[in-house]
Amino acid sequence: MGTPSGYTFEQFLDATFRHSGFLPEATYVARVGDRYVATTSLETVNGKRDTLHVSYTGTLREFRGQGLATELKRRAIEYAKSRGYRYLTTDNDSLNEPIVKVNQALGFHVERTTIRGEKLLASSP
Ligand SMILES: CC(C)(COP(=O)(O)OP(=O)(O)OC[C@H]1O[C@@H](n2cnc3c(N)ncnc32)[C@H](O)[C@@H]1OP(=O)(O)O)[C@@H](O)C(=O)NCCC(=O)NCCS
Repeated sequence: MGTPSGYTFEQFLDATFRHSGFLPEATYVARVGDRYVATTSLETVNGKRDTLHVSYTGTLREFRGQGLATELKRRAIEYAKSRGYRYLTTDNDSLNEPIVKVNQALGFHVERTTIRGEKLLASSP
């Protein structure tokens, strides 16, 4: 499975699995034979006891488009609902069409948009 751009694998592990908010019991993994092919996990949110946050969701390239991420995220939603949480939040790149589709299909609405800007400071030599 690839890592989000700009992250080393160790940084990805720290940000996703090795922090105080990580909920191992709310980490869902799809397995095909002896291969782990898709995952999604939830984490607690500092200062918000009624909210859980979806951290990383990923499916191995060759298994994409078969509904795995949607199903794992649906189970994560069930986990949060069944434990009485009021909100589930998630962040994604607006240009990442597959995850935008997954989130829309599961009922996430856009709460806030962040804009990434780029300013050209010098022309290339
Ligand atoms: C985003 C990701 C997890 C989706 O996993 P998946 O198991 O393929 O997801 P699903 O099969 O449940 O659904 C994918 C949806 O995106 C659509 N899709 C797939 N590739 C697409 C593309 N290149 N452009 C537009 N839509 C696309 C599928 O058709 C499907 O929508 P549908 O149900 O309306 O047909 C997977 O693409 C991935 O691992 N990407 C890299 C990691 C990533 O970006 N993670 C999200 C940030 S946390």
